[in-house]
Parts: sequence; structure tokens; C-alpha cells
Amino acid sequence: MNETATQRTSATQPAAPWETDFYDPDFFDARAGEAAVDSHLTRYLTNVASLGSAGEILELGCGTGRLTRRLLERGHRVFGVDVSERMLEVLRSKAAAWPAVDRERLQLARGDVRNLRLKERFAVAVAPDDFLTHFLTPECLASALRTVRDHLHISGRLLTDFRVRRKSELAVGAGPGPYPVFSTGMVHGVCVGGCPRSVAAYFWKQFAPAERLLTTNMIFDVITTDGKVEGRTYKTLRQRLFTSDELEGIAKTAGFSDHHEVSESEVVYHEFTAK
Ligand SMILES: C[S@@+](CC[C@H](N)C(=O)[O-])C[C@H]1O[C@@H](n2cnc3c(N)ncnc32)[C@H](O)[C@@H]1O
Repeated sequence: MNETATQRTSATQPAAPWETDFYDPDFFDARAGEAAVDSHLTRYLTNVASLGSAGEILELGCGTGRLTRRLLERGHRVFGVDVSERMLEVLRSKAAAWPAVDRERLQLARGDVRNLRLKERFAVAVAPDDFLTHFLTPECLASALRTVRDHLHISGRLLTDFRVRRKSELAVGAGPGPYPVFSTGMVHGVCVGGCPRSVAAYFWKQFAPAERLLTTNMIFDVITTDGKVEGRTYKTLRQRLFTSDELEGIAKTAGFSDHHEVSESEVVYHEFTAK
């Protein structure tokens, strides 16, 4: 491998010193009850049910377990993988309160999906909520999809999705800064450090069109009940916005066929079959 050349691409350099831990489970879960999130999860449950395989499911990027919980409730056995120990910690503590019959069907592993080496094979792999955008180059995505393919039975399915981005936001994000804040919000009753707090969030985005790299910069202010800012957290998330054609081509070389896609409320859902 040519290390010098690798280091020169902006996709392989951190966008900010704190970039490695790009999700905060407390702030992430504060959005969990949103209608858009619920309809997204319902879509996965419906798709899994339509495959008629009440079997084993490999969940990629299971996070704090929003989909995991629902899959277990429907009788599936779930093997969840996530690279973030903090997200998994939250999932484990939630799972402690789930019925034992569900918990017994759950296995978890921490690590990058690309390094997964399990002996077992699955009927279905789900990679929800824009998961594949976390692989910042086509080579990284190809490596991830090959690993997923190696963990599926022949004719096993991969269900995934990409969010549709507003062209206007990407155009502004591709221009010179300063960038406008694209969304703000306030959520009350967020459990931060065990205490209910309000959290104000501010997001702005930068987009590098040549590499199709989207950087989302986030500030979260944690606010006490008397309106004082108790703490501020910066998060930086980078994503590679693959087109459907790119995804299809890479999936094909990784051993998948039969690509189907359907758009629904600003999300494109993809389904592939393992060859
Ligand atoms: C947008 S969150 C979604 C979490 C969960 N699927 C949900 O819908 O609530 C994406 C998750 O993928 C995880 N992740 C990102 N890159 C990963 C990788 N290469 N391998 C495993 N997990 C990864 C993150 O830590 C995060 O928990």
C-alpha cells in the first residue's frame, strides 16, 4: 500500500480532532421518537417480514438498538455490530430491561464491520439509517460489502438505505464558508449524565463535490433547568454520498445481484441478493 498517497486524500484525514467518536448516544436517542424515525424503522420491519425469514439477522451499525429491539420483539435472533463502545453501552443497559426471552436472542460485537469474521451465516443483513455512507471511499465500501456478503447464506438479503440530500444544502456546502446553520432544535428531558437536561442543537454542512464527501458539524448545548449552559459538545460526522449506480456497481463486484430500490419520504431503500 502506498501510505503517502493514502494520507493525501482528504477522506483519510480526520476533519476534526474529535471526529473518531461521531455519535453521542444521549443526543442520538433524544431523536428516537420522531415520526420520521418510526416510519423508517417500520419500513425495515415490513421488508424483513416480507422475506418470510423469521430467522437470524445481522444488524450493521446497531447503535443504541432502536431497530434491534423491534426485531427481537418480532421473534428474530439478532447479531448486532457497532464500532462505538458508547453506543453499545447504551444498548446493553436498555437490553437489561427487555424480556429475557428477547435478550437471549441477542448477540453483540464491537468493531468495524469490515473486520467481522464470524463462523455463522445469516438470512438477512440490515444496514439502516444511511449506514453505508460511513465508508468514505468506494474501496472502503467494497470491503464492507464483501464482508457482509461473506456472512450471508446464498440468496440471503442485504437491506439498506441512503437518505436524499437537499441539492440546495449541498450547493451551499460546496461554496466558500461561512456556512449557514441548516437546522436548529431544542429537545427537553434528555438524559445527560443521568439527569434530565434540555439540549439545543445547531448543524451546518460542508460538501466536497469531487469526492462526494459531506461533513456535518454539530454543536450541542446542554442546558440546566434554570436556563444555564452546562456544557457544550462538538461532533463531526463525515459521510460519502454514493449514488445508486455506484452502490449497485460496488455491490455487484462484492458478490451481490438483483438490485431493487424504492424511494419513500426522502429515503431510498435498497435490497440486494447474495450470489
Ligand atoms: C446513524 S447510527 C444508526 C444506529 C442504528 N442503526 C439506528 O438506526 O438507531 C450509525 C451507527 O453505525 C455505527 N458505525 C459507523 N461506522 C461503522 C463501522 N464501520 N462498523 C460498525 N459500525 C459503524 C455508528 O457507531 C452508529 O452507531
